Amino acid sequence: MREFDEKGITAAVIGRLCESDDPRFKRIMTSLITHLHDFVREVKLTESEWLTAIQFLTDVGQTCTDKRQEFILLSDTLGVSVLVITLNHPADKGSVESTVLGPFYWEGAPDLPRGGNLAEGVKGEPAFYSGRVLSEDGRPLENALLDIWSGDGEGNYDMQIPGEAGMKARGRIRTDAEGRYWFRSIRPTFYPVPTDGPVGRMLRKMARHPYRPGHIHMIVSAPGHLPATTHLFVAGSQYLDSDAVFGMKESLVAQFDRHPAGVGPYGERVETPFFTVDYDFRLRLAGAMAPIKA
Ligand code: BEZ
Ligand code: FE
Repeated sequence: MREFDEKGITAAVIGRLCESDDPRFKRIMTSLITHLHDFVREVKLTESEWLTAIQFLTDVGQTCTDKRQEFILLSDTLGVSVLVITLNHPADKGSVESTVLGPFYWEGAPDLPRGGNLAEGVKGEPAFYSGRVLSEDGRPLENALLDIWSGDGEGNYDMQIPGEAGMKARGRIRTDAEGRYWFRSIRPTFYPVPTDGPVGRMLRKMARHPYRPGHIHMIVSAPGHLPATTHLFVAGSQYLDSDAVFGMKESLVAQFDRHPAGVGPYGERVETPFFTVDYDFRLRLAGAMAPIKA
């Protein structure tokens, strides 16, 4: 057949995959074509709406640079990123839940000793973080690595601060023989995802706010275990109920206890009120993931 009606077109496009020898690719494309055609039929997409969508995706692509990934932001704000993460990193046996990486990860943060201050020269209220990294069976993991980053106390990442060329509020800390880690940083606050591009226009058209609740990022890893890309969220922060990228997980909400100025947990003087937070990360054993089926 050479001509297709509004139903037959779907089977025809899928049929052209018959020569592909990659079963997983075939499965994904078949499903994508089916859902995409169903969507177009369901909403009876007009030609001008189709053109608007093409223009929008073009703008998304043209907004991407080596420092900005607008397609990931689109995926984040449509909940696709967190859906993929949730499917691929199911939290079980009490292991720490994963959430979005976000666009502000910067490889090569400085290695700091336990107790080091990540937030030298960073605006914000001091916060002292501590806890353990454990295996899923509760065994403490020595020499586990926490690669940590956050915005400052005003919601800006170093990469976003004009004139700030170096790393700020970033560091790598390793656990001791009992799996313990501790470090100083600031208590992060809520902030907006970038809104000066097409995704920002989409959020405004959807009448959605762009804010993420206060959080600190970390990738926690240890030999023989699956690494976890995760956050600690500040209990009580604004926007915990409506994270713009849907990355909030209840199990990652940590209590930040406020203390008056005075002596900090490492015995040093802290001139302003400060916070302490304690959180244990449990990692799944490597090999615990089920293989993806075609
Ligand atoms: C972040 O938490 O850094 C982030 C995550 C997704 C989109 C934008 C920012
Ligand atoms: Fe963030």
